[in-house]
Amino acid sequence: MARAAIQKAQAGWKVSPWMRDYGEARLSFHWELARAELGGVVNMAQAVVDRHADGGLRDKVALRFLGDAGARDLTYGGLQALTGRFANALDQLGVRPGDRVFTLLGRCPELYAAVLGALKHRCIACPLFAAFGPEPVRARLGIGGGRVLVTTPELYRRKVAPIRAQLPQLEFVLLAGEAEAGPGTFALEALLRAASPDYAVRPTDPEEPALLHFTSGTTGTPKGALHVHEALVAHHATGKLALDLHADDLYWCTADPGWVTGTSYGILAPLSHGVTSLVDEGEFDAGRWLGILSDQRVSVWYTAPTAVRMLMKAGAAMARTRSYPALRLLASVGEPLAPEAVLWGEEAFGLPFHDTWWQTETGGIMIANYLAMDIRPGSMGKPLFGVEAAVLKEEPGGRLVEAAPGEEGELALRPGWPSMFRGYWNDPDRYARSFRDGWYLSGDLAKRDADGYFWFVARKDDVIKASGHLIGPFEVESALLEHPAVAEAAVIGVPDAVAFERVKAFVALKDGYAPDEDLRAELLGFGRKRLGAAVAPKEIAFLDRLPRTRSGKLLRRLLKARELGLPEGDTSTLEA
Ligand code: WT7
Repeated sequence: MARAAIQKAQAGWKVSPWMRDYGEARLSFHWELARAELGGVVNMAQAVVDRHADGGLRDKVALRFLGDAGARDLTYGGLQALTGRFANALDQLGVRPGDRVFTLLGRCPELYAAVLGALKHRCIACPLFAAFGPEPVRARLGIGGGRVLVTTPELYRRKVAPIRAQLPQLEFVLLAGEAEAGPGTFALEALLRAASPDYAVRPTDPEEPALLHFTSGTTGTPKGALHVHEALVAHHATGKLALDLHADDLYWCTADPGWVTGTSYGILAPLSHGVTSLVDEGEFDAGRWLGILSDQRVSVWYTAPTAVRMLMKAGAAMARTRSYPALRLLASVGEPLAPEAVLWGEEAFGLPFHDTWWQTETGGIMIANYLAMDIRPGSMGKPLFGVEAAVLKEEPGGRLVEAAPGEEGELALRPGWPSMFRGYWNDPDRYARSFRDGWYLSGDLAKRDADGYFWFVARKDDVIKASGHLIGPFEVESALLEHPAVAEAAVIGVPDAVAFERVKAFVALKDGYAPDEDLRAELLGFGRKRLGAAVAPKEIAFLDRLPRTRSGKLLRRLLKARELGLPEGDTSTLEA
């Protein structure tokens, strides 16, 4: 790739004393350095809000919301008062530290008030994606035992009211805006108005639970990955080392806080660095997004390959109709970032995209293309200092050993970084199964080249990545099975030019149902209504029966191979 673009990005880098050279930084880095920058403050919300509001940043804009009505600014002082009111409101309701406070909200001020206010009160914050349908909402609230849910009247009516009776633990629903109160539902505005803005955060242990983020595996229900207050040390360190955040940055993370990126890098890391962080309340629109990058003078932009591909579709010429005088770092996460996309950044913005890799479970960036080193387009980069990553393969005896350079294996991490998940909620067995021989196994297949750069190969399991969101096939199949016509369902991800993958369902019908277009449309609608647009299948194919092993296990891999016209692999266990 052109050196000029890399050098331009590197020239903008505000060299942090921690890191001038990757190799050198690996030797000198220690988590204590990051911890020390938090000034001994442990509680996440206290560290990212009160530390600045009580320090020199009271009047600085923390969050700038871009909505239909234009821009609305919330200062660090304003955010302190708002989160203080929320924490006091929880206290007055009798909500206790450790209770789970869920949000089902768009990217609005109430979301930030609720997540950070819950953290101040030492509750466990669980943000849900607003595009989930009633079924994913029910499953997650049920597993996490949510006692409080903050949502809007509209989302409540469509997604929560139909399932509320199945959630006996859900005592308090707080409705944003001037909502009508009812049994078990409260108007959030009124509660906040009545509460004091002053809230003194009680001493918080670094190992106290802070965040519960749901993610999916191939089988079973969604898994709640639990993170503790100590995780902020990693958010802070990676905000600096991978995203090069400095107090004068105008930062934009496009991820929704209903997923881990939007929390770790949309709320915690930027506020921890005292930057002004943009929140776009709307959905993707190429022209509008380019306008935001230009008009708001964004300097550091963290986005996802799906968004990059959508901008690529609109064309580099469109991007070049504007100028981006402040832009100095483009970064991406969530799915494979193709070399063409890295290079396209250069064509459109004069800067390459820097890929980063991590997971809900890792809580923060683990592998990245740092400004201090040259990008290899298509590579995820190198491990964070303080993180040991490896590509492992199994020896004939079953022992895990490191694969040779260029050889494929499972991407694994040595446990011990601050934002490592501390468990799957109420599921110690699943947590234990994530570790082997002293390694955390990521479920991703990867390679490491001779120079230490990591390259993504594929997922090892059947989870689907659509528009950067991880989708568990079992959750989709279970919803489809509730339709009276469906006897069996198998769900896979098929390649998609924009979203990386899209959800496709194979359905076998019960006797008496005809596989026609009406039923196909009905099942698509059924899926959307239950699961929401983010999770529902986009395509349905009818089969007489689904391929299973003799022991009855669904062979999604075989469906996928057939779909892609690839060799079917070992089918010796296929049911006759
Ligand atoms: C999975 C984790 C990272 C926070 C948001 C997603 C895939 C992530 C990359 C990348 C290729 C990537 C992996 C990973 N993934 N980053 N740079 N290149 N694949 O968190 O929903 O838990 O998903 O996303 O498969 O395991 P998540």
